[in-house]
Amino acid sequence: MRSHYCGQVTDSLLDQDVTLCGWAHRRRDHGGVIFIDLRDREGLVQVVIDPDVPDAFAHAERVRNEYVLRVTGRVRRRPAGTENANLATGAVEVLAREVEILNRAEPLPFQLDDDDTSEEVRLRYRYLDLRRPLMQDRLRLRTRVISTLRRFLEQHGFMDIETPMLTKATPEGARDYLVPSRTHPGNFFALPQSPQLFKQLLMMAGFDRYYQVVRCFRDEDLRADRQPEFTQLDIETSFLDEQQITDLMEAMIRALFREALQVELPDPFPRMPYETAMQRYGSDKPDLRIPLELTELSDLMASVDFKVFAAAAQDPRGRVAALRVPGGGSLSRREIDIYTEFVGRYGAKGLAYIKVNDVTAGRDGLQAPIVKFLPDEVLAKILSRTGAENGDLIFFGADSAKVVNDALGALRIKVGHDLGLVSGEWAPLWVVNFPMFEWDEQEQRWNALHHPFTAPRNDDPAEMRANPERCLSRAYDMVLNGTEIGGGSVRIHRQEMQSAVFELLGISAEDARAKFGFLLDALKFGCPPHGGLAFGLDRLVMLMAGAKSIREVMAFPKTQTAACPLTQAPAPVTDAQLRDLNIRLRRTP
Ligand code: AMO
Ligand code: AMP
Repeated sequence: MRSHYCGQVTDSLLDQDVTLCGWAHRRRDHGGVIFIDLRDREGLVQVVIDPDVPDAFAHAERVRNEYVLRVTGRVRRRPAGTENANLATGAVEVLAREVEILNRAEPLPFQLDDDDTSEEVRLRYRYLDLRRPLMQDRLRLRTRVISTLRRFLEQHGFMDIETPMLTKATPEGARDYLVPSRTHPGNFFALPQSPQLFKQLLMMAGFDRYYQVVRCFRDEDLRADRQPEFTQLDIETSFLDEQQITDLMEAMIRALFREALQVELPDPFPRMPYETAMQRYGSDKPDLRIPLELTELSDLMASVDFKVFAAAAQDPRGRVAALRVPGGGSLSRREIDIYTEFVGRYGAKGLAYIKVNDVTAGRDGLQAPIVKFLPDEVLAKILSRTGAENGDLIFFGADSAKVVNDALGALRIKVGHDLGLVSGEWAPLWVVNFPMFEWDEQEQRWNALHHPFTAPRNDDPAEMRANPERCLSRAYDMVLNGTEIGGGSVRIHRQEMQSAVFELLGISAEDARAKFGFLLDALKFGCPPHGGLAFGLDRLVMLMAGAKSIREVMAFPKTQTAACPLTQAPAPVTDAQLRDLNIRLRRTP
């Protein structure tokens, strides 16, 4: 059918005959001569059809955009001055001898080179959207990433083992996608939120090193970096501790960046305790490319006259913190209002600030409505702790620690981008020493911060029961440029500890038996110490591709409302199907 891909036709093929297959990207008539840019997955080449070749010319005249063609011709140098340095094939063209129309195309619903096509339209006609070279490049990067990771893991003795898609709920904190069972009326499978329990069982089975490129399903609120079905690179190992696991994993990511992007990442990755990340960045996934940091002020504010600050400082779950913005003194009232509205989205009730005109002039050098509420020594400490300089602006957050961290953490990122403070291209790190549990105010109970199978650092169930709030886990997250790309932990491998954690999470002994009986049993029959992690492959590829959303690196993603505009899924089913499944709808929509 063809001798070369279009994108491979370079001057190394000068004066040779080639046969190409592809799509007519563009056709131009130039005073009797027809030019067709022929495109395939490897690129674009210019085909010239001369009226001297009447057959080919007659066919070429009928060609419209996106027709599928087969062209045979001779490669020749483009005339001087008509080369295109932006194209790999830009020095040459193919003088056609034969042009065959393999298939016609109706006018497309959108222009492939129009960057403003709505995402809805792009997803409805995804097969056309994917013809765009940008999308082809992204999916090509994705396959390269997956094959590089597989190669690394196989070289390191990992076995690729599949786990069920029709399974039982695994608690990763999202809602399950359920599949009704026809053969067991009234019963449902859950699609896996992750293969967590199966990979642990594989360690108990003695496989020692497992990996899988695996689809996971989570019915949760969607964002730019979340999809209802997404792909994990899932990994589990036996007899390694957290240092060894994280060392191996960062070596893998370094190898990946070296091979796929020719980027050398730091060795080792920095490690940061969760507590430090929250204190300094208000986030457990700090973007270290942005040099701004939060400054703790809670201890200074407990006795000031400004109630907003004093109340938050006195509340044990409260926090008062500052964010110094170098050169921020030049921000206008309007810009500050926009930031105030921005932090409002994270629950902040306001955004106090001080403009620093002259650090040596005491309160006279500071400009802000709140200055009058703060004593001299507090003002002086604010300046020294934040390291403020003339021309800076200091923002303040006072609320529950959660609101302050969310609001100032997000503001830090936004201001960093707005003021062009992002430095360096890649900033990976490990966040470690996570708390085991977090208190759920609404439900009035403890939740597992990672998942309930994560081991505590202190292997003493009694100590854990006595002080759940102080209990740290053996979990670790890999963060890249402010995105959590992977997370995992050393697991509980003793049954008593697993039962104690279930109990602390308010899962009764009967419930634990019903939900995880198989795990509790397996732990009794010689379970090795084990641990692992899972990478969000879509997120990793998104970052490597410089894309804004994981949808840009998935062939057929869902919309923000978890639907597929291409296939129109999800869709109603027939009454007969429902009857087979023993299901009656509560109300027909
Ligand atoms: P976790 O829930 O942290 O851990 O998931 C691992 C990684 O998967 C990615 N991720 C997602 N990507 C796209 N869309 C989503 N909805 C989504 N949810 C998660 C993230 C995340 O870091 N079983 C554990 C891993 C383990 O302990 O080994 C787990 O699933 O990049
Ligand atoms: P007010 O006394 O409500 O006029 O607030 C004075 C300043 O404090 C304004 O700049 C508010 O935006 C700011 N402010 C109010 N509540 C908070 C809060 N919880 N955290 C930070 N700043 C706040």
